[in-house]
Amino acid sequence: MSGTTQKTVTITLDGTNRKLTVPLMHGTAGADVFDIRKLYGELGVFTYDPGYGATASCESKITYIDGDVGILQYRGYPIEQLADHSNFLEVCYLLLNGELPNAVQAAEFNKGVMHHTMLHEQIRSFYNGFRRDAHPMAVMCGVVGALSAFYHDSLDINDPESRRISAFRLVAKLPTIAAWAYKYTIGQPFMYPRNDLTYAENFLYMFHGVPTEEYKVNPVLSKAMDLIMILHADHEQNASTSTVRLAGSTGANPFACIAAGIASLWGPAHGGANEAVLKMLADIGHVDNIPDFLSEVKDKNNHAKLMGFGHRVYKNYDPRAKIIQQACHDVLHELGIEGDPLLDLAMALEKIALTDPYFVDRKLYPNVDFYSGIILKAMGFPTSMFTALFALSRTVGWITQWQELIEDPEQRIGRPRQIYTGPAERDYVPVDKRA
Ligand code: CMC
Repeated sequence: MSGTTQKTVTITLDGTNRKLTVPLMHGTAGADVFDIRKLYGELGVFTYDPGYGATASCESKITYIDGDVGILQYRGYPIEQLADHSNFLEVCYLLLNGELPNAVQAAEFNKGVMHHTMLHEQIRSFYNGFRRDAHPMAVMCGVVGALSAFYHDSLDINDPESRRISAFRLVAKLPTIAAWAYKYTIGQPFMYPRNDLTYAENFLYMFHGVPTEEYKVNPVLSKAMDLIMILHADHEQNASTSTVRLAGSTGANPFACIAAGIASLWGPAHGGANEAVLKMLADIGHVDNIPDFLSEVKDKNNHAKLMGFGHRVYKNYDPRAKIIQQACHDVLHELGIEGDPLLDLAMALEKIALTDPYFVDRKLYPNVDFYSGIILKAMGFPTSMFTALFALSRTVGWITQWQELIEDPEQRIGRPRQIYTGPAERDYVPVDKRA
């Protein structure tokens, strides 16, 4: 629970004698927040905050970010420690349950999740409705939303056991759904999950394997996959998570809410940035073209952005970018890819951007997506799969946040207000009388 500080904020409506004193709340860490819930009732005014840059929409115990110093913690544990010592399913347990598991709890949880990796057999035929060139994110939006048509027995959002099973189902089935989205586009048979493998290994097996040959999972790749999943597992109230929460606030079922989150993640300003970074690097093509490209980005009349740079919260280095940049070097080295031209180009671009006053003044640093595309490409993933991999890793964060929302007695249906600036009331004019 948050606490109330001794401090208050008093808001006075100029020209009237109406004022409201509201408490200043504080959490475990981070900025204090003043509670404006009574504002409209008492003073008849709203707050204006497009993009919610100054709005705390909920209390949360899951993830903490301090963007000024580049801190990211899941349930209090620094991302660097989790990246070094944990594994994705342990992080899933931590997010969902609030504490790290002991050995028995971990074994039970892993078994519980992996038990749900298969999809209802009828979902196979659902894929045939898509064009072969469908973007994997389009397939993911559709198939994840359709899960609610297949798993009726875990749709009661007021039943904790139903919620637990839905969470397991989502975490377990997303790799299968994502791998099949890819297999469908390339016309290869769907590979059924293998529950004897780890979560990351099973995904790589379903993605790269074919029924005609034995597929041996490369441990370098499965370790990198696991790391990428840990880094993307949650990120407090970002756009897709807020979308999941907003959908959840209406009482929508968890599969529908996660489908909404996937749709929101797809945009290039959010999870779609990893795909956009690779397209941008390909367009730049050569180190010599960087100055021209950066001039375009800095031109106010141009909509181009340096993709993979900038973040609403991080005004210092994104800690995930630091970890992934190092992993990128390790993976390329271990795979024997020396001097990857895209990595060289990305590093040159980063170096130039980090000394350019435009980026320095605006505190624009590389974010997680700047390097994730390069590592994913080296691991054999096509560009179109990058955001789908983000979605499958983020699903545990979304469903944890959704559970927290459902269990929070303070949460109501999400319903922002507006400043109406359209026409004032006017009378309807019949068509023959209009100019
Ligand atoms: N390239 C060039 N200029 C930028 C960039 C960029 N990548 N990002 C921000 N700016 C400029 C922006 O134009 C504005 O300039 P001015 O003050 O002159 O108008 C200033 O920096 C402040 O930016 P903002 O638009 O107010 O920042 P925001 O918090 O609204 O947007 C962002 C954050 C991530 C959407 C934005 O930085 C961006 O579009 N970055 C590129 C896309 C990207 O890499 N997204 C991945 C985010 S991390 C992964 C995830 O969690 O989704």
